[in-house]
Amino acid sequence: MSERRVYLDHSASTPVEPRVVAAMSPYFSEVYGNPSSIHGYARQAERGVEQARETLARILNCQPREVVFTSCGSESDNLAVRGIAMAARQRGKARPRLVTSPLEHSAVSRTVSQLAALYDCESVFLTMASDGSLSAEALAASLQPGDALVALMLANNEVGTVLPIRELAEMAHENQAAFHTDAVQAAGQLDLDVQALGVDTLAISGHKFYGPKGVGALFVRDGLELVPHMTGGSHEEGRRGGTLNTPLIVGLAEALKIAYEERDWYVQHCANLRDQLIDGILSRVPDAVLTGSHEHRLPSHASFAFQHVNGNQLLMQLDNKGIAASSGSACKTGNPKPSALLMAMGYDESWAFGGLRLSVGRQTTQAEIDYVLDVLPRELEKARKLSAVLMG
Ligand SMILES: Cc1ncc(COP(=O)(O)O)c(C=O)c1O
Repeated sequence: MSERRVYLDHSASTPVEPRVVAAMSPYFSEVYGNPSSIHGYARQAERGVEQARETLARILNCQPREVVFTSCGSESDNLAVRGIAMAARQRGKARPRLVTSPLEHSAVSRTVSQLAALYDCESVFLTMASDGSLSAEALAASLQPGDALVALMLANNEVGTVLPIRELAEMAHENQAAFHTDAVQAAGQLDLDVQALGVDTLAISGHKFYGPKGVGALFVRDGLELVPHMTGGSHEEGRRGGTLNTPLIVGLAEALKIAYEERDWYVQHCANLRDQLIDGILSRVPDAVLTGSHEHRLPSHASFAFQHVNGNQLLMQLDNKGIAASSGSACKTGNPKPSALLMAMGYDESWAFGGLRLSVGRQTTQAEIDYVLDVLPRELEKARKLSAVLMG
């Protein structure tokens, strides 16, 4: 095992920024009242929550009451997709159509599949371009007037492609469908102005932008009908039951505030290191491709497919050299199947086993990138030989 440690898995999670820890700290054991109670302790906690809501509203360019706090990005996606589908059923709509992509995070795609299997909805999985993108014209071909929902992510977690959400949302609205976007990977890097994006719901998660794990938020446009998926008290104006997690909510807002104050620097820093990774790997490694879009890509995100390589084998070897990476979405690490996402983008199995995601972040240095570019070609060669034996 190498002494050296290089963390290139920021798309899976980021370290909590010390300024965020400091902002959260009083809310654990000093300001501990239940924000829904009626006394001074509660009011103090409520102030923390409402200031956090205002911070989010400023960055999302929405009303504070349009922000719902949740327990994670997955829950935000669930609340949007289930909430909109169930609202359509409640209005008496027969078999509401839910249109999405096979490249969505499973918090969206599995929710759509479950709604189709168990709740009399119809699922439509779009065909995406080979770089993971989708044009408004391609979306239009699959829409029908009166569709209940179109759910398409702002930026993809496995291949980093950024979708033209404004045009896609406009197309959905022309067909009366509500539009949800998962902005979990985009938050902290791309503009989250919900008016400019034209979306009805937008999901984020604290741990992707140097905030805590286990807290997320969902923008819900005023007037959108949403059936709560978590029933309980009248928290969050009846949209999500459950005592508010004051310290994590304060942390989420502080992290987002810092991320947008420092965004110009961050985007430049990440894009510079990302481009070195992309150019360096493609020029040094044979039978390698950049997966996802070259042009419309998250600044922090480099992803590749290597032919005839078992990606998990490569990950273990890199780990041995102190390099933390991912073969795609964190949730799929350890799974020996080919990437369903790469297959949906048109790669065959000889490529789809060999995905690698390297995602840079605030603390990533030039020396770390140089180290990875030195180590990776050799490890890849070894992995290729081993994979040939293992995979026949
Ligand atoms: C695009 C996307 N959506 C949703 C999620 C889920 O977020 P959380 O881990 O907060 O549940 C992730 C996490 O990897 C993600 O990348």
